[in-house]
Amino acid sequence: MYNEKFIIKKAAPLSGTVKVSGSKNAALPILAAALLCEEEIQLENVPNLSDISVMLELLTGLGAKAERNGKNLKICCKSITNNVPDYETTKKIRASFLLAGALLGRFGSCSMPMPGGCGIGLRPVDLHLKGFSAMGAKISLEHGLVHIEAQNLTGGSIYLDFPSVGATENIILAAVLAEGTTFIYNCATEPEIVDLANFINLMGGKVEGAGTDSITVHGVYGLHGCKSRIMPDRIEAGTYMLMAAAVKGSDLTITNIIPQHLSPVIHKLSETGVQIITGDNYIKVNSKNDIRNTDIKTLPYPGFPTDMQAQFMALMTTGSGSGIIRETVFENRFMYVAELNRMGADIKIDGRSAVVNGVHRLSGTNVKATDLRAGAALITAALMAEGTTEIGEIQHIDRGYENIEEKLRAIGADIQRIREE
Ligand code: EPZ
Repeated sequence: MYNEKFIIKKAAPLSGTVKVSGSKNAALPILAAALLCEEEIQLENVPNLSDISVMLELLTGLGAKAERNGKNLKICCKSITNNVPDYETTKKIRASFLLAGALLGRFGSCSMPMPGGCGIGLRPVDLHLKGFSAMGAKISLEHGLVHIEAQNLTGGSIYLDFPSVGATENIILAAVLAEGTTFIYNCATEPEIVDLANFINLMGGKVEGAGTDSITVHGVYGLHGCKSRIMPDRIEAGTYMLMAAAVKGSDLTITNIIPQHLSPVIHKLSETGVQIITGDNYIKVNSKNDIRNTDIKTLPYPGFPTDMQAQFMALMTTGSGSGIIRETVFENRFMYVAELNRMGADIKIDGRSAVVNGVHRLSGTNVKATDLRAGAALITAALMAEGTTEIGEIQHIDRGYENIEEKLRAIGADIQRIREE
């Protein structure tokens, strides 16, 4: 067994081009959706991330055949042999719970480990289960396993008390092959939902309204194979934007992106004085001005994304003035603040709000990533901190950032990955 760490030195201004990879949070539900189809699916632009490998491990463990060739993936779920994913593997990623909707849709029943909480909150699945119940499923919980059973899954009408991304996706997955029509109200409108709906419709499904707060799924009898391309990762793109903003004098172009997916990040970053130019598939970030701190409130899409909260906090640690960050989506997403304060930041937390007072500079020390985006925030802080920063627990970062050290070195950062037995 070994631990890996990043060793990062204070960066000279970043410059050049970063090519964004396919979206982790679009690929995961799309892989679950492949379970609904008995013909071969071809996917392009699939990111090479540990979360994707775990989802593929779960699918092949159920009997699927998968063949990866770089960013291209062929998968066929014709010979699925059982509907109980491997218990230990499902616990590695929360997104494994998306298999519930797909297995329910294909087989009418499944048994899934109850997902655990993680570094950012309790992460309940009550809204997922509310949707399945509305479609006629019976649900029981025994020995940590959620048993979901429906004699014949029929379309239902569900109001989501919170526009949960996962619940919206899971209910769509269960509804694709159900009898009749399913209506989901107050659903999530994230671009990843649109990518999932487009993929399902390419297979012959009938999902309408994705991207709005009301989605209708007309059940169909069967699906056929298709070829699809995963959308760009808007959070990876936003993370590189924040890194360029954090290192004064940077002039970075982020390509292979859909700029309107990042409009809240573009607007808020512009408020800090960073210059941003957008093209049809790129965003240019120029940070020659000093950063002026601003206020951030995370909200479901199209509000400011919770997955960019930590990175923005890191940026504001050395900005002028104070900024208030309100985290309204998760109840415990400031775990990383203690690590930033160890680097010399001045951040005070009060419940779901944090006040960051800009300091003159950060200084490098040993820190640990507490979750995926916290890890990205620590890298952002390390790029601007005096001296050297050592970041532990970087397996969190590998979950969502493909080839991050290669991409950063290519734009001028000094980052090394070391392995300790
Ligand atoms: C997805 O998680 C993303 N993960 C998260 O990205 C992202 O932060 C989140 O959406 C919000 O945008 C994937 O897409 C794989 P939610 P998800 O259900 O679906 C509460 C990353 O860094 N809730 O929208 O789990 C929940 O507790 C990850 O890539 C219920 O109360 O998010 C939370 O407070 C982190 N009951 C809020 O909704 C439920 O049944 C948002 O959760 C479901 C959720």
